[in-house]
Amino acid sequence: MPEKELITQIVEAGTYAPTGMGKQSPIIVAVTNKEMRNRLSQLNAGIMGSESDPFYGAPVVLVVLADKQCPTYLYDGALVMGNLLNAAHAVGLGSCWIHRAKEVFDTPEGKSLLREWGIEGEYEGIGNCILGYSAQEAPQPKPRKADYVHYID
Ligand SMILES: Cc1cc2nc3c(=O)[nH]c(=O)nc-3n(C[C@H](O)[C@H](O)[C@H](O)COP(=O)(O)O)c2cc1C
Repeated sequence: MPEKELITQIVEAGTYAPTGMGKQSPIIVAVTNKEMRNRLSQLNAGIMGSESDPFYGAPVVLVVLADKQCPTYLYDGALVMGNLLNAAHAVGLGSCWIHRAKEVFDTPEGKSLLREWGIEGEYEGIGNCILGYSAQEAPQPKPRKADYVHYID
């Protein structure tokens, strides 16, 4: 379990992601509670019809959701995810985007979790940023595709 201070720093970096018209449409639910983390893992695995842990044993799950009423919610939420991942790297923690937050929070169980957390409104799951100390060295990124960038000079 990473120290609380590190988690707070990462979450704060997430909140400073820019958002369309500065509306701050996303929210972050920082889960360190073991039972809740396991419940989220089970719901996420259930979407895939799997019983394995999609969070790879990571103790922290930062769930990003965003308010669908805002036209830029999807972009806003994805930028928050990007900030979380970069901030985790900056403080020396391992992290990964784990998908299916939309599907999880569209289920009745997911909706009831939001109610349990006191979250009301039209929120859509964007992604889960898992955090922890990596058991291995960070893998080298794959080579980038040749036509990734088009320079128009
Ligand atoms: C939108 C999105 C969804 C992802 N979902 C998952 C996931 O569900 N499970 C997982 O293990 N990794 C997931 N990842 C992590 C990617 O697989 C990882 O970032 C990518 O393989 C890194 O490759 P690179 O280092 O070559 O850039 C996701 C990443 C993104 C951006």
